[in-house]
Amino acid sequence: MTAKLQTVLRQAQKGRYAVGAFNISDLEQAQAVVRAAVALHAPVIINTSEKAIAYAGLEELAAFVLAMAKKYPIPIVLTLDHGHELRLARACVDRGYTGIMFDASRLPFRQNVRRTAAIVRYAHRRQIGVEGELGQVKYPSEIAQDRRLVLTDPTQAHTFVRLTKVDAFAVAIGNAHGVPQAREHLDFTLLAQIKKMIDVPLVLHGASGTPPAMIRRAIHFGIAKINIDTDLRLAFSQALRRELRRDAHEFDPRGLLGPSRDAVMATVKKKIVLFGSRNKSKS
Ligand code: G3H
Ligand code: ZN
Repeated sequence: MTAKLQTVLRQAQKGRYAVGAFNISDLEQAQAVVRAAVALHAPVIINTSEKAIAYAGLEELAAFVLAMAKKYPIPIVLTLDHGHELRLARACVDRGYTGIMFDASRLPFRQNVRRTAAIVRYAHRRQIGVEGELGQVKYPSEIAQDRRLVLTDPTQAHTFVRLTKVDAFAVAIGNAHGVPQAREHLDFTLLAQIKKMIDVPLVLHGASGTPPAMIRRAIHFGIAKINIDTDLRLAFSQALRRELRRDAHEFDPRGLLGPSRDAVMATVKKKIVLFGSRNKSKS
């Protein structure tokens, strides 16, 4: 069934587990994520980034994810991930997306508030929840330019949530997108301070490659949504390379991509168990 971002996250917050938000850009990956969640009776969030939408098409992505949501009895949330363009974010809401992650974190505070609040107003008219970000969860290309962390300020976070009325809040506590080059250090003292200041569910981005003990700790300190992309891409592409090596003459896309779909599914299952969302589809 389709579910709203704010509903599954509030339940996770109450139940002290985290819902996995997994990035997809094609049918195989979407099926892998949904099948893993169905097998483990877990609520799940399907993330589509602006680039994924540019690659696969908004109508196409919405059509096949929402069709799967209709087919299976678990809560499935379809979200825009790291939306920067207000026009696209509105189009996602109009297409039946059930959550929006809007990222204006690279803009000065006031502009971040203004743009995030604008999409919140639009989405809330249709009872769709919005996640915002303050501080910067950097990408590898940004880290290569400047290694300095831009962490979330707890007091500013409070003001941001109050002014924008977001339903979920993405923290920057030392986490980064991609597989960490060096050992990632998450600042749990900072996370606890943020948690004290705001009551909307907290989100951890860039969780690929983060050690399981750190993930458990993050959930203990209030993280209710965890975003995973790179680990799924790695599982997909490693399986595809293996398959091409195993049978150099295979030319049927189903033969080549089936093992990749299975590999993504296995990875998603491990994450669901780690996040504690197994058997939470009815809570
Ligand atoms: O929004 C998506 C993520 O934050 C994924 O990060 O590629 O490090 O898993 P990741
Ligand atoms: Zn992210």
